[in-house]
Amino acid sequence: MNLLFIGDVVGSPGRDMIKEYVPKLKDKYRPHITIINGENAAGGKGITEQIYRQFLEVGAQAVTLGNHAWDNREIFEFINEAKYLVRPANFPDPTPGKGMVFVRLNDLEVAVINLQGRTFMAPLDCPFKKADELVEEARKRTPFIFVDFHAEVTSEKQAMGWYLDGRVSAVVGTHTHVQTADSRILPEGTAYLTDVGMTGPYDGILGVEREPVLKRFMTAMPVRFEVPKTGRTQLSAVYIELDRKTGMAKKIERILINDDHPWYS
Ligand SMILES: [Fe+2]
Repeated sequence: MNLLFIGDVVGSPGRDMIKEYVPKLKDKYRPHITIINGENAAGGKGITEQIYRQFLEVGAQAVTLGNHAWDNREIFEFINEAKYLVRPANFPDPTPGKGMVFVRLNDLEVAVINLQGRTFMAPLDCPFKKADELVEEARKRTPFIFVDFHAEVTSEKQAMGWYLDGRVSAVVGTHTHVQTADSRILPEGTAYLTDVGMTGPYDGILGVEREPVLKRFMTAMPVRFEVPKTGRTQLSAVYIELDRKTGMAKKIERILINDDHPWYS
């Protein structure tokens, strides 16, 4: 069972990279399931129904979100009907949408869970307790469980990796937009990566134009962040192979495509 996860797609530059490279990545890695984090896909803020559908059309089976899930208000019109759209599960009840979805692949099923960290982020319900609850539910149906942990700090992400080691197939972090180099398989078999990184503008700051970010740091004045419309782009992803019987990881490989890390098929 092979899995491909593509990190935080930012605006139209990110979506263009998805269109261009998802077919190539599928050719090369032959994943059974492709998952995309789309919380910044609509102009850097949230997601629309059209973009969600584009991701499914290009070959994703599930789309995860994060703290920007609600930034594009269109989400409230379609999230409850979007079968494969996953928002952080530890938002307090009642929050629209689902924090876990099951994707059926012939005779197999994969549970896709989205959780959000709390350190330097909104004070949501405990992601660790929510993980216990969802993992118990998922394991009644399948050993293949993927967790996108959308969190700011490395320690909280590592804590989640160790907490779920042996109980889920993979814990992969999102949100900080820079791919970390710590991909590994934990001792009990869970694939782990602190942050998969971002798909979108390569020369911005975390995917948005540099000037407003600099102004914010240098003046502390409020600014508006925009996604650059032109310029170089990148794609960040991770490929994971799972044992067909146990659901535990056999291999994890980071994927980074940009001018400094060119694509070789
Ligand atoms: Fe985020």
